[in-house]
Amino acid sequence: MSDTTVSMDTLRDWLDQGRPVTVLDVRPDDQHAEWAIPGSVHVDAYEALKANDPGALAGVRLPQDRPVVTVCGMGRTSAIAAQQLRDRGFESFTLIGGMKAWSQAWNSAKVHLNSGSVRVVQLRRTGKGCLSYLIGSQDQAAVIDASVSPEVYLDLASRLGWNISDVLDTHVHADHLSRSRQLAELCGGTLRLPEQRRVAYRFAAVPDGESIEIGDARLTAIHTPGHTPESTCYLLDGKALFTGDTLFLDGVGRPDLEGTADGTRLRAEQLYASLRKILSLPPETLILPGHVSHPVPFDGVPLYARLAEIQEQVQSLHLPVTDFVTWILGRIPPTPPNHHEIVQLNEQGLWPEGDPTDLEAGANRCAVS
Ligand SMILES: [Fe+2]
Repeated sequence: MSDTTVSMDTLRDWLDQGRPVTVLDVRPDDQHAEWAIPGSVHVDAYEALKANDPGALAGVRLPQDRPVVTVCGMGRTSAIAAQQLRDRGFESFTLIGGMKAWSQAWNSAKVHLNSGSVRVVQLRRTGKGCLSYLIGSQDQAAVIDASVSPEVYLDLASRLGWNISDVLDTHVHADHLSRSRQLAELCGGTLRLPEQRRVAYRFAAVPDGESIEIGDARLTAIHTPGHTPESTCYLLDGKALFTGDTLFLDGVGRPDLEGTADGTRLRAEQLYASLRKILSLPPETLILPGHVSHPVPFDGVPLYARLAEIQEQVQSLHLPVTDFVTWILGRIPPTPPNHHEIVQLNEQGLWPEGDPTDLEAGANRCAVS
């Protein structure tokens, strides 16, 4: 932090602590509509600021009693906005690296489960919509689908008195770089991935039906191919299901990102069968997905739903198989940018040289709803 700038970590801390701050987003309307910082005020002043128009923010009324952090795509145009606000007497900073840097920001929420000593923390990469989980029981913990810096999980686990013994992924991710391999190395835990031949490094394979003990809790693998061939859900003590990108709160996983176009229909059929498997679980099962498609607020409210609620909400779950396949093939969203490079790095277990946000920028697009 300087007199004129704040880092993503600083702004994240301020929002997490509930500190009064106005976030002013000056990007064009279409960019703001795609993804934004929760609670931010938006004014499309981009062109006027770039043209150095001194009246670019003239009509903007903001509270005087709190600092303003200005945001744009990369942190350049917002610096002009911050200067204009300082000229008007505001304490004003610009977010270094803009929304690109913000894509790494995260917050957390506790999930309440009535099951022995087990506790679950949902870590939400608010800048991208990825959800990961820290599950602790006694002094042991597991992490599922690590998508933010490994230190975040290590710090949180140590504050809660847990040692991370197991690091799991639900599938080979296409929208973000998995942090699971790095995390397992740092904590000395076992890296567990669904049984497959895609990744080129050592891991402990988790076949369908295998159980992993975490303290006095138990995670059981349920193979749910469709989104990807190896996709696997993990059932915690028969009460909560970590569904990765197979089932979301408002939709289902897309079946087209892996393999050939011809194979997409087959994977859509596999996804249908996998969803039937999930729907056979008790209706009160908590569904904890791998993504949401909106920025996650700093409100400590966990994102989950009971299986029965999702069944009511997601109409595609009621279709017969042929209609489901036709429906999903007709609604596949645009292919996420850089997904080939991300998959390759995740398969090789490599970390990109330079800034990972160059590859990961943009909203996740793993869902069909
Ligand atoms: Fe995915």
